[in-house]
Amino acid sequence: MDLCIVNGENVADGAGITPKLADRLLRAGADVVTLGNHTYRRDGIADYLATSDRVIRPANAGRWAPGRGLAVAEARNGAPVAVLNLLGSLFLDVPRSPWEIVDELVDEARRSAAVIVLDFHAEATSEKIAMARWLDGRVTAVIGTHTHVQTSDARVQPGGTAAITDAGMTGPHDSVIGVRADLAIARMRTRLPVRFEPAEGGVRIEGVVVECSDDGRARSIEALRLDV
Ligand SMILES: [Fe+2]
Repeated sequence: MDLCIVNGENVADGAGITPKLADRLLRAGADVVTLGNHTYRRDGIADYLATSDRVIRPANAGRWAPGRGLAVAEARNGAPVAVLNLLGSLFLDVPRSPWEIVDELVDEARRSAAVIVLDFHAEATSEKIAMARWLDGRVTAVIGTHTHVQTSDARVQPGGTAAITDAGMTGPHDSVIGVRADLAIARMRTRLPVRFEPAEGGVRIEGVVVECSDDGRARSIEALRLDV
């Protein structure tokens, strides 16, 4: 089994994603692209998401948000893999709590695939750990995103669900979570509006590799960091 999932919510210069960049990620080998709280920042992406079955936005993005929160893709060995995307509710403005809909979403995914991966795009470590525990034994992996800093808690839980609180960031690490440090610090110190620009140094690929069996149980999870 081999399948590649990319969270692409900030590939457009650190804020949002455009249809062109979404296609580029798919062409580069991503099977499914997940998004987050910056989903609709760029022109054209709402219409793109309305018809895409490989680029998904958080399932709790609201009743009127174009797009889907679940994708089913085929792994290299032919096994179907369901990918889910949800936003956390702590310190993020969400139209609907992820807890209200996660069970229904997982049940829906199970009808198409035994292997299920959730990208839980959330701010609070506690909420990400709680979601991983709640889904233990029901999904293959709960991968945290959004906070950009890779955590050292990759683990397979007792029920067979792999989890990590944050998979990290692919981007410039000589920065404040991707933004030029001087600009991020100026906004925090002065509270004046400062236009953010993406940083350039220390580019690193970060993510996780999860191994699982076709019945959906995770065998291992490894956090990756590659300097480029
Ligand atoms: Fe985010």
